[in-house]
Amino acid sequence: MTDAASNTRPQRFFVTGTDTDAGKTYCSSAILRGLQLLGYHCSALKPLASGVDHDGNNADAKALAAVTGQSLSAVNPLCFSLPTAPHLAALAQGQTLSLHQLDTLLPQHNSQFELIEGAGGWLLPLNATEYLADWVVRHQWPVALVVGVKLGCLNHSLLTVRELRRAGVPILGYIANILTPDMHYLAETLADLSNRLQLRQLATLPFSPDGADDALCLQLAVALKQQLAASNHSDQ
Ligand SMILES: Nc1ncnc2c1ncn2[C@@H]1O[C@H](COP(=O)(O)OP(=O)(O)O)[C@@H](O)[C@H]1O
Ligand SMILES: [Mg+2]
Repeated sequence: MTDAASNTRPQRFFVTGTDTDAGKTYCSSAILRGLQLLGYHCSALKPLASGVDHDGNNADAKALAAVTGQSLSAVNPLCFSLPTAPHLAALAQGQTLSLHQLDTLLPQHNSQFELIEGAGGWLLPLNATEYLADWVVRHQWPVALVVGVKLGCLNHSLLTVRELRRAGVPILGYIANILTPDMHYLAETLADLSNRLQLRQLATLPFSPDGADDALCLQLAVALKQQLAASNHSDQ
């Protein structure tokens, strides 16, 4: 039994990104795989998703469920067909999203770690006044930031970290997720990112269309777990 196995309250944490397509699902899958390799029982929640494949299911939900073994509806309780911002996709189906509604989606189960993947970037609108970020702030869940490494990522990551700090949520660190095989000045960009963000770098995930290998998943999970322990947070 692992050290967390006796604790039936899941340690929740939130994965945000510098933008949509930054690699939140890619990195979330790697984190979950790494935690599993460490022997932990993990679950994933993608509370809001928009856009479905030809089979009527959301690709993120399928990717996360493939790692955790949960049902698609358990991973992703709110899925809207239109491939646009979730609040607009919801409105197109006659629904309005709210913070209150999100709270009703939090599962009662006994996994040891629960990863919650955001949608889009940090300031994702829910309705005219509320943002997905408000939910994370309300619960004070620790946040891991996926930096989609490409031209423009310095600005996107600095803006996001500035807002995370302003909001006062615990920040676990960032994952430098390399989105293209041929980025110019990659080493310099990574070094600059590190200098400017002044956050723990949980891992650098190279461009690898087949997903991160087990060694990297493990490295990422170990770093994340260390940071979670340091943040010492147990919101339900
Ligand atoms: N490190 C990487 N190497 C190769 N492809 C990646 C990498 N990270 C993300 N991708 C690809 O980029 C696309 C967007 O990633 P995804 O995880 O879906 O982003 P998000 O969840 O932030 O919207 C996907 O097709 C994914 O497979
Ligand atoms: Mg995603």
